[in-house]
Amino acid sequence: MWPSSWAALLLLCLTHITLGRPSAPSKMQRRDDSDRKVFAHYMVGLTSGQTASKWALDISEAQTASIDGFALNCGPADSWTYDQLTLAYAAASEAGFLLFISFDFAAGDWDVSSVAGTISTYKDSSAQWTQDGRPVVSTFEGPSWVDNWTTVRGQVDGGIWLIPDWSSLGAAGVGNVQGSIDGAFNWESWPLAGQTSKNTDADVGYVNALGSDKKYMMGVSPYFFTDLPAYGKNWYSSSETLWYDRWMQVFDIMPDFIQIISWNDFGESHYISDIEDSQIVSGAEWYVQNHPHAAFRLTLPYFIAAYKAGTKDITPPTGDVAIAWYKTVAVGDRAAGGAVWGQGGTEPAYSGASDVVSVLAITGSSGVVALQLGDTKHSVDVAGPVAFFTAGMPAGGGQVILSLNGEPAEGPAIGTALSSSDSVDFNSVVISVP
Ligand SMILES: *[C@@H]1O[C@H](CO)[C@@H](O)[C@H](O)[C@H]1NC(C)=O
Repeated sequence: MWPSSWAALLLLCLTHITLGRPSAPSKMQRRDDSDRKVFAHYMVGLTSGQTASKWALDISEAQTASIDGFALNCGPADSWTYDQLTLAYAAASEAGFLLFISFDFAAGDWDVSSVAGTISTYKDSSAQWTQDGRPVVSTFEGPSWVDNWTTVRGQVDGGIWLIPDWSSLGAAGVGNVQGSIDGAFNWESWPLAGQTSKNTDADVGYVNALGSDKKYMMGVSPYFFTDLPAYGKNWYSSSETLWYDRWMQVFDIMPDFIQIISWNDFGESHYISDIEDSQIVSGAEWYVQNHPHAAFRLTLPYFIAAYKAGTKDITPPTGDVAIAWYKTVAVGDRAAGGAVWGQGGTEPAYSGASDVVSVLAITGSSGVVALQLGDTKHSVDVAGPVAFFTAGMPAGGGQVILSLNGEPAEGPAIGTALSSSDSVDFNSVVISVP
């Protein structure tokens, strides 16, 4: 299946290439590097009826990816929350994995006594992530609760260690209420409307706004596409370079903690877990099923090891790896479906999407990463440890074969151009070698 003579292959259609090491770290580096941790955001709201063994499997897969724990997103109204939290904490204790609860204030109203009661129920588990001897607690939004958290602190025996996501306040707004918190989590992990790539403006803003005794948790995400009319959500955030860019930004910022968004939020296409059909919210099936993202995880042990060592110099701890992500149909200039470019954006999503295959390789020494896209062959010499490039999709679609040092992996073919009436699938598949 794979041609043997690579010597004559031409480097064509490369729209962007970055080889070698990320730029030097900025002055933004946080001081304390002793306790860095990496978590993934887990939607408990999707786990109705989930078994203990599924929790154990998720935890085992996360540990293989060097993830330390899950931030368990819970809404106030799901009848299964406490059953599932109990299963999760038991499985995590067994596995030596960390957990903390992230109260979702966008999902409904919480009351103080149930928040304090929920924290108290699980805080003494060996799986509970603690800081300064107190159970860590987070949120998705809910900044109007700032005074109620003072009450919660008083109701939980021993207090809590609060690191909310109040991104709607912005960095300066969070800085203004830092007397009420122990740290801040910044949800903003994607390019904004009208931006093709993510920058660190918000991260730098948080680090500057927070006092030296407050911790910063940085959001890192691989992707964003959602098309859920029932939830009023239909946008694509430019994700062609995001997984690479954001990890390089981690090395610039060196945050105290990282939260990967997400483990299993399939409806927003930022999952890195294996696809679990029962967790796909109704209406998202067409852009989630057959769109595996698990290969994003293969790069994590390398990035996380470097982050924890406080260095941008990635040392591959095991074998070489290459991943590629791409949309399975050229989007072109099709506005069908009504998706916009970025959250709250007004321009059509295709304006922020490029029809490329994105390749990220982590190698211990020099090697060759090759891509066959339809009839076009690309070959890139990589020097290690990190190489990233994008290559244009073939105009008429065609097969996709990624290879690393001659070892091939074939992914789903890229389809031909859309008709104007087609739904526009902006989610990607992710393939890997090995
Ligand atoms: C604070 O908690 C009380 C008691 O649970 C609740 O009634 C109130 O709505 C909360 N405040 C806000 C701003 O949500």
